[in-house]
Amino acid sequence: MILFKKPGEKNTRETLEIAVKKAATLPSKKILVASTTGRSAKIALDIAPDDLKIVTITHHTGFEEPDIQEFDEGIKKLLEERGHRVLTATHALSAGERCLRKKFGGIYPLEIIANTLRMFSEGVKVAVEISLMAADAGLVKTAELIVACGGTGSGLDSAVVIKPANSSNLFDLRIVEILCMPQNF
Ligand SMILES: Cc1cc2nc3c(=O)[nH]c(=O)nc-3n(C[C@H](O)[C@H](O)[C@H](O)COP(=O)(O)O)c2cc1C
Repeated sequence: MILFKKPGEKNTRETLEIAVKKAATLPSKKILVASTTGRSAKIALDIAPDDLKIVTITHHTGFEEPDIQEFDEGIKKLLEERGHRVLTATHALSAGERCLRKKFGGIYPLEIIANTLRMFSEGVKVAVEISLMAADAGLVKTAELIVACGGTGSGLDSAVVIKPANSSNLFDLRIVEILCMPQNF
């Protein structure tokens, strides 16, 4: 396992290199990439061999501003033309609970789970979340191992081998191996 000294975007390429190398050894040959703007997804596209499948998960539309999608349309087209998938969906570890917190205060179960995962790193939390989202969209199977990558605000700094689960069975998800994450200390 690689421990980066600091979280953040500067670890993106190395995280993807680690993820791609591991994914090449897995039968699924799949990496999941959290990407808000498309920047990290484009780097994944540039470095992944042709037989690797990239599933990119974006922020839900309206995350920053109502009805606005932050992901670059051109990069989405490029990924899809090369046979990869781009998923935009409700975030599995916040969903409507974020609205309850903002409107009424307090903290609700999904966000408690999310914050517990953040004790590892933001990126580990994101890796788990996007695995649930991809499983719910049918883009990964619950019986296969995949490599999921997340980061801290932007870029990528964590890569995790995960056995996914559907969100209705989220505690069946397994964190099989943390390949890299920031030291967080
Ligand atoms: C579904 C989803 C949830 C995310 N949740 C968080 C989060 O809780 N904390 C965080 O620091 N970053 C979060 N991110 C950001 C990602 O970890 C990653 O840094 C970012 O999407 C990379 O985008 P870029 O390719 O535009 O740099 C999330 C991204 C997505 C797509």
